[in-house]
Amino acid sequence: METRPPGAVTAADESAPAIEFSEVIKHYGDKTVVDGLSFFVRPGECFGLLGPNGAGKTTTLRMLLGIASPDAGVIRLVDEPIPSRARFARQRVGVVPQFDNLDPDFTVRENLLVFGRYFGMSGHEIEALVPSLLEFARLESKANARVGELSGGMKRRLTLARALVNDPDVLVMDEPTTGLDPQARHLIWERLRSLLARGKTILLTTHFMEEAERLCDRLCVIEEGRKIAEGRPHELVESVIGCDVIEIYGSDPQALRAELAPFVERMEISGETLFCYVDDPQPVHQRVRGRPGVRYLHRPANLEDVFLRLTGREMVD
Ligand SMILES: Nc1ncnc2c1ncn2[C@@H]1O[C@H](COP(=O)(O)OP(=O)(O)OP(=O)(O)O)[C@@H](O)[C@H]1O
Ligand SMILES: [Mg+2]
Repeated sequence: METRPPGAVTAADESAPAIEFSEVIKHYGDKTVVDGLSFFVRPGECFGLLGPNGAGKTTTLRMLLGIASPDAGVIRLVDEPIPSRARFARQRVGVVPQFDNLDPDFTVRENLLVFGRYFGMSGHEIEALVPSLLEFARLESKANARVGELSGGMKRRLTLARALVNDPDVLVMDEPTTGLDPQARHLIWERLRSLLARGKTILLTTHFMEEAERLCDRLCVIEEGRKIAEGRPHELVESVIGCDVIEIYGSDPQALRAELAPFVERMEISGETLFCYVDDPQPVHQRVRGRPGVRYLHRPANLEDVFLRLTGREMVD
């Protein structure tokens, strides 16, 4: 019998989680890169893992797939214990790694064929799927191009198509749209939504807050391997920010901060921009409107504000 550590997270609903992480710890040397991380993903859910560079996202996914082993904690994937049953679990999982590992000497079609064979599929079976996979990635015209000749974005799209070869129940994607142009990114979002509509489960990492906001049912923000927030995107925006934002630039931000302080809930300076968090925007509007050289943008709060609030607007590495 498997025992679970105290405080282990379990899904609130009846069905077993598609993915479960309980109190997972991972050290590299004397550095703790994943530090007691717990989360679960229900079947059919899209779950996002957000965090600054080096937060431990890729390490988390690598442990989930059984590529890296945890030092402590419980991991389950499609109801299989990881790493002991990782090979079996992986049969039902599609993976998009952070960095493409396509074979540059093979053509697009050959890459799909070789990958399908890992899953024990016959040549016929895979050939039958190739047209729909190429269509998924909008690579129909590149079937016989060598991967080494593709652009970076095309390779990314091929990696996404390749992850679907085995018709997986769960997709684990590490920054799926990094390096894609806006059209390709929107295409992939549409494709991922259609996969979700078909009942697939998705765990993804992203640095695009718009991506997380559009796709994810729930997300978890991690920093230095620890969970610092979890929830539905709009709930996090409401609970962490909960008011409008006015971005002001083109003026000395320090001087403006002092002037506007009595009229705003909270302020932050990032570079040359002053961020004002306001319940009532009118007093700020009145003071900056028409001021020579000053530009401002009044907008609802978004997930990027949440991320920057939680992890700091300054870059730390
Ligand atoms: N194989 C390894 N050996 C030693 N340290 C590692 C190894 N892999 C990752 N790390 C360290 O673990 C920490 C987390 O790295 P990880 O790649 O998981 O971050 P990440 O959240 O995916 O970052 P990014 O957004 O830049 O992809 C970093 O400090 C990194 O240097
Ligand atoms: Mg990473």
